[in-house]
Amino acid sequence: MIKICFVCLGNICRSPMAEAMFRKLVLDLGREDEFLITSRGTSSEEYGNDIYPPAKEKLMEMGIPFSKHFAKKVSMEDYLEYDYFVCMDDSNVSAMKRMFPKDTNKIKKLLDRDIADPWYTGNFEATYRDLEEGLKALVNSVK
Ligand code: 4NP
Repeated sequence: MIKICFVCLGNICRSPMAEAMFRKLVLDLGREDEFLITSRGTSSEEYGNDIYPPAKEKLMEMGIPFSKHFAKKVSMEDYLEYDYFVCMDDSNVSAMKRMFPKDTNKIKKLLDRDIADPWYTGNFEATYRDLEEGLKALVNSVK
């Protein structure tokens, strides 16, 4: 069982989208038993909030199921529980490394480039496409 936690800043847009999309991806591949999947933020700014409505709309448009979400900041318990913290951008990686300075290999980035951040642009299509590319590469890298 590989335990993967997707990480963004607020845990209301990119990482819960990644969580829902990765669940669907591994389900479609019949590999759902291989993974435990969740998401967190590096900040508690959006604590308790559900997925941001435009992110939900994009998931619905693309036929990706999701359930009720409760945004949370990553904790030490999470750090000990999960194998990989797959971050959306460089600032997420930096924030994670500040929180967990002894990390050797759990903190990763989904793509070499940053995942498009829809918070300021409103472009959820670009985020979806970046996530799709990164998540397919991720599932193929874990054989
Ligand atoms: P996320 O998007 O990190 O993809 O969930 C954001 C959510 C909230 C804020 C920034 C980005 N914010 O500044 O509150």
